[in-house]
Amino acid sequence: MARSIRFEKQMNKTEITSVSGHRRWDSRGRPTVEAVVITRGGGKGRALAPAGASTGSGEAVDLRDGGSTLDGLDVTRAVANVNGRIRDALIGLDASDQAGIDAAIESLDPTQGFSELGGNATVAVSLANSWAVADTHRVDLWEHLHDSDDLTSQQSKVMLPMPEIQIFGGGAHAHRRIDIQDLMVVPVGASSFAEALDWVAEIYIAAGRWLEDRGLRMGVADEGGWWPAFDTNQQALEALTVAIESAGLTPVDQVGIALDIAATQFGSGGRYRLGREDRTLDTGELVDMLAGWVDRYPIVSIEDPVAEDDHEGMASFTRTVGDRIQVIGDDYLVTDAARVERAAATMSANTVLIKPNQAGTLTRARAALDAAHRNDMQTIVSARSGETEDVSVAHLSVGWASKGVKVGSITRSERTAKWNEMLRIEESLGERAGGLRK
Ligand code: PGA
Ligand code: ZN
Repeated sequence: MARSIRFEKQMNKTEITSVSGHRRWDSRGRPTVEAVVITRGGGKGRALAPAGASTGSGEAVDLRDGGSTLDGLDVTRAVANVNGRIRDALIGLDASDQAGIDAAIESLDPTQGFSELGGNATVAVSLANSWAVADTHRVDLWEHLHDSDDLTSQQSKVMLPMPEIQIFGGGAHAHRRIDIQDLMVVPVGASSFAEALDWVAEIYIAAGRWLEDRGLRMGVADEGGWWPAFDTNQQALEALTVAIESAGLTPVDQVGIALDIAATQFGSGGRYRLGREDRTLDTGELVDMLAGWVDRYPIVSIEDPVAEDDHEGMASFTRTVGDRIQVIGDDYLVTDAARVERAAATMSANTVLIKPNQAGTLTRARAALDAAHRNDMQTIVSARSGETEDVSVAHLSVGWASKGVKVGSITRSERTAKWNEMLRIEESLGERAGGLRK
């Protein structure tokens, strides 16, 4: 008996034989955590933690060293946690049991949000584990992840998520030059991912030319979108609408606008300070202003229209425009299943941003996504403003059948790494490619 158990164990190709943590660099020149997981079958998975700049207070903790070196942002403690406690707990476990792996990590840290281990350590290991399993079975990560009914059949078409792509960066990603954090386009009329990116690249060029013609072209913001040298938020919306038209595309039918207001960055307690316009709005005034924009511009999506603590504001905004556009909770929902359930019950959002590092593990992120889909809410898998060459989110968005995917602009390699991976996935599907989720 003992011998046969040992034999089975030896045959378990997905048994974890190695876990290691490494210190790497992200797109803002800050250190970040890389994890590598190796299985008995020779599968190797690697993942890097991203980092936000406009973070929700309910997110898993991005553990930094503090002190004076590198502005206190070093991650040697988080890396050491991977090489110490996390490694010790995972060696010998079955990597193919992702929930079991993530539970083992959770059991090491009883705090809310992994404040001891670091959510940057846990998410890197959790993602690396899933890559290791996929590699052991020699399949793409998205294929390994797609356990859902609509993707299982070899015959069935695989749909790709609709991208939201940044043209102008703002808010915390551009020293608050304008209040809105992200001005993006959504190529709703594109028939493939490849076509979607072609359209967006034309819009990016047109937007750059618009700035250039006015002497306003001054480089790019954190996610590669043009630096927002605008006098008002509305001027940015005008410029974006013109850029869509100048690119030869039709607003609404072919391309919509998506905004991430990221209002937690400039308001709380129902008071919102518009820096550029030098005025303060209450929740009702902010909701009215944004709803007015929805009437005037080809807007299809607005994220975090009010601050993370403004539950009433979220509900009011969703009541006002939720039947026409996506109302997305990012800082408001922080990829947390319980918050998603509450938002569904109170109808205070209709779409959930899914950022694995907000949750800290793949299993927790998946629970938030499942809660959204169970409640007929849509999901958008998202990268962060601080990124790397890691392409995990591209695979999650396809494998988990999310409605959308958001990774920043169409420039800078940490962004195009994801878009190029989406193109590879689309090409690999061949006849099975089912176009974009609309
Ligand atoms: P962050 O920004 O990664 O800085 O939080 C992205 C977002 O708010 O969606
Ligand atoms: Zn956001």
